[in-house]
Amino acid sequence: MSNYHIKHLEEYFQVYRKSVRDPEAFWEEIAEEHFVWRKKWDQVLKWDFKKPEVKWFDGARLNITENCIDRHIPTRGEKTAIIFEPNDPSEEPQHITYRELHEKVCRMANVLKEHGIKKGDRVCIYLPMIPELAISLLACARIGAIHSVVFAGFSSNALSTRINDSDCKMVLTSDGSYRGSKTIDLKGIVDKALEACPGVKTVLVAKRINSKIKMLKGRDKWLQPLLDHAYADCVAEIMEAEDPLFILYTSGSTGKPKGMVHTTAGYMIYTAYTFKNIFQYRENDIYWCTADIGWITGHSYIVYGPLANGATTVMFEGVPSYPDYGRFWEVVEKHKVTQFYTAPTAIRALAKENLEFVEQYDLSSLKVLGSVGEPINEEAWHWYNNNVGKKKSPIVDTWWQTETGGIMISPIPYVTPTTPTYATLPFIGIQPALMDENGQEIMGNQVDGRLCIKFPWPSIARTIWGDHKRYRDTYFSAYEDKYFTGDGALRDAVGYYRITGRVDDVIIVSGHNLGTAPIEDSINEHPAVAESAIVGFPHDIKGNALYGYVILKETGESRDRDNLRKEINQQITEHIGPIARLDKIQFVSGLPKTRSGKIMRRILRKIASKDTANLGDTSTLLNPEVVKEIMDNAL
Ligand code: PRX
Repeated sequence: MSNYHIKHLEEYFQVYRKSVRDPEAFWEEIAEEHFVWRKKWDQVLKWDFKKPEVKWFDGARLNITENCIDRHIPTRGEKTAIIFEPNDPSEEPQHITYRELHEKVCRMANVLKEHGIKKGDRVCIYLPMIPELAISLLACARIGAIHSVVFAGFSSNALSTRINDSDCKMVLTSDGSYRGSKTIDLKGIVDKALEACPGVKTVLVAKRINSKIKMLKGRDKWLQPLLDHAYADCVAEIMEAEDPLFILYTSGSTGKPKGMVHTTAGYMIYTAYTFKNIFQYRENDIYWCTADIGWITGHSYIVYGPLANGATTVMFEGVPSYPDYGRFWEVVEKHKVTQFYTAPTAIRALAKENLEFVEQYDLSSLKVLGSVGEPINEEAWHWYNNNVGKKKSPIVDTWWQTETGGIMISPIPYVTPTTPTYATLPFIGIQPALMDENGQEIMGNQVDGRLCIKFPWPSIARTIWGDHKRYRDTYFSAYEDKYFTGDGALRDAVGYYRITGRVDDVIIVSGHNLGTAPIEDSINEHPAVAESAIVGFPHDIKGNALYGYVILKETGESRDRDNLRKEINQQITEHIGPIARLDKIQFVSGLPKTRSGKIMRRILRKIASKDTANLGDTSTLLNPEVVKEIMDNAL
């Protein structure tokens, strides 16, 4: 029997050793015993981090939806697969059984096919957190189409860039979305985006808010009538193990977003196996991850990982503050949630509110609490532990990335003793390395360095859509034969890892990855702006907030500064989305630059963080005089 479900620490160490000594034998056993295949593989693993190339289970054939849905029907047909909890608590939740999910996914898959979508085609999904979102991912997977979900908080500009980058033929959206007390005109955003996307032939529109929207003849269709008329069964397309399952965009430190490509078999196995262990999922548990499916957390741990285990997964449409700050806890009580997975930024926001919001609900169903997306600070960790977990539910601080597909470093609850702010031990099969500035691996404990992974794991992204060179340059060129994460980390005396944060120009704001370059590009397009630089600074709730230093053109000098600030933020909202707005904008006459013309962000970060006692070495600056000016006028 393979070690699919780890239950104590000794077993973790034993299984970990096995997974590292002979990864192929280890993953082969997991694949054999816990998944259904149309054809077995020819080779478990083929890899070369130089090219780079990674293939898991090459030659195998399968369909992920047969693993996530069909195979559960004989034993779990009437079990709830998805609980949909609407934005407004007075609207009834929906319970979708595995049998119903099968029918819904098949109908949607047939609608896609009727509209010309074939294996390998890209479909953009721009939907709010309604059941159609999960169903459309699975419908794409059913017929071998590659889904590209764009978080429905991104602007029309960001949407069109993503649609065009991967040549999507179709967009799935809704008439609008609810977000707390607000509604958002999603279809309007899609219409604007599509002005720049000639490749999109069809837009299928789910009805959610019953708003009056424009439908473009020949292109736009209401989804529901099509679903009602579609066949309720759809034969699954047989896919190769390494066929792409989806593209998901993530910010880079430079230029346009990177379309990370995840493939079928390895992704399925790793998300399923991590889900089972890191949430200690047991039959009849009710698992809830509060993320949006627009992010990797939602793909892996709302949809694929839970469903591959035949779990019940909650999809929440709303926000933690509506109708009040007790909303999360009301949902936990209502559905008797057993595993709850959220982001530190949400915990910090809730911790600021009255404790009564938590205390008025019965949270005794909870067994495991999760955290993801950014380092969880000690205060937030204790608040979560004391008030939500009542010191009984272990917290799993899960470190991973869009690129890794699944959780990489994390405690296993009831197995790994936890320490606040530590993601603790590498998960089974994961071989981390800390690197020094000279490219050498730092051995031993009580050390810190740059976090790399030495050996492929099944759900590593295989490439960047359309740009394999960028994939190599970004992840495999900094350190030879290693995947570089972009994060710094320390390893303590017992070998626990603590992630210290990004070491590149990505800033994590409220758990969202933001690259500085696209934001700077957006600011620089303002007619009054000559140049700009963005850095992060600590923020009570968001973790980091954005601080912009902006040089005006001569023609902009006479403009009112507050109006300019508003215009700059408006422009960022249009180009990227409201999540990238700047908290502070300081107008400066110059930016500190090295002789080679590089902005010295380290200094700007220190000024933004009010940590100017020691600015470090400034001897290579071309224009040291500007530093004093910036410090004197800092916000
Ligand atoms: O810096 C790390 C941080 O989030 C980055 C990945 O962001 P993204 O691709 O959007 O995926 C987020 C959800 C998996 C990482 O490089 N990060 C994520 N989880 C943690 C974290 N930092 C510290 N602790 C974590 N648990």
